[in-house]
Amino acid sequence: MADLVKVRLSQARDLNALASNGVAVSPDTSIFVAVRGDEELLGALVVHETAFETEQLGLKSARVVSFRAWRRPEEALPMLVAACREWLVSKGIQFVACRVGVDDKCAVSVLKKHGFEDVETLLTFRRSLSQIGETEDNTAAIDIAVPEDAADCSRIAGNCFSSDRFHRDDKIDHGAAGRLKKTWVENAFRGRADAIFVARNASGETVGFNICLVTDEAAVIDLICVRSDARGQGLARGLVQKAMSYYAGQRHEMRVGTQSTNQASISLYQSCGFQVMSSSKTLHLHLD
Ligand SMILES: CC(C)(COP(=O)(O)OP(=O)(O)OC[C@H]1O[C@@H](n2cnc3c(N)ncnc32)[C@H](O)[C@@H]1OP(=O)(O)O)[C@@H](O)C(=O)NCCC(=O)NCCS
Repeated sequence: MADLVKVRLSQARDLNALASNGVAVSPDTSIFVAVRGDEELLGALVVHETAFETEQLGLKSARVVSFRAWRRPEEALPMLVAACREWLVSKGIQFVACRVGVDDKCAVSVLKKHGFEDVETLLTFRRSLSQIGETEDNTAAIDIAVPEDAADCSRIAGNCFSSDRFHRDDKIDHGAAGRLKKTWVENAFRGRADAIFVARNASGETVGFNICLVTDEAAVIDLICVRSDARGQGLARGLVQKAMSYYAGQRHEMRVGTQSTNQASISLYQSCGFQVMSSSKTLHLHLD
């Protein structure tokens, strides 16, 4: 029976093999591994509880942060999801999100068979910051945020999003999805963001924001929004361009993710010189 595939919770000795297959693990994650009878690792599923979503949505929440098999996926993946689902139920988890590459047809189909539903296709864009010219700087109405901008920005965030995965999931209350975005912005002002840019109208009112984070490789637009009555005037373009100039000497590139259905933001990023680097599907599972 050397070929028997089984799933177990990961043990310390698996960690090197997981790392060499590009599976990042941290202390708060639970890891399931699929192994062959001879202990060869075939794939892994990494999941952790998400306190922010639990608090904001009022649903005990978790996220699958990695779900991959590098050998025999058609056997390994269903076993991994089944074991994880059992674990989620035993923990009383009510809501789970998982993101996988659009080309990973096997993973998508296995997740769907286990009750996950498609909520979005997420496009990740990138743009090099090596050539940011003067002519691209359309940023007269844009400032770096001050703490007093937090209230206006969080109010805008609470009302203006509709394409994100929380609003598009009809099992999630719209009010809760709006509150989540509002708190997201409050947390950015409390220090989670690396930099926040704001757009002001002619009366000096704050009508838009661009929250940026940084990773080792890139500056990332985490959340961008312009109040409905101030759209179509080039403010979002200014917010993106201001961020590009700000990060030009610090990072080689800028990245941003948006839903394939969000035509306004796709056109915005393309008009600022961004190109698609990857696309993934986000799936949600609701457990009773
Ligand atoms: C996306 C968003 C930030 C654009 O803000 P905006 O200030 O209206 O955008 P701008 O006026 O700067 O437009 C810049 C470019 O974006 C594109 N664009 C903006 N709105 C568009 C729309 N409704 N349809 C198509 N393209 C649009 C255009 O290419 C435009 O350039 P053009 O006017 O020369 O054609 C705004 O619609 C918004 O806040 N949406 C809700 C929040 C959201 O979805 N954020 C993105 C999440 S990733």
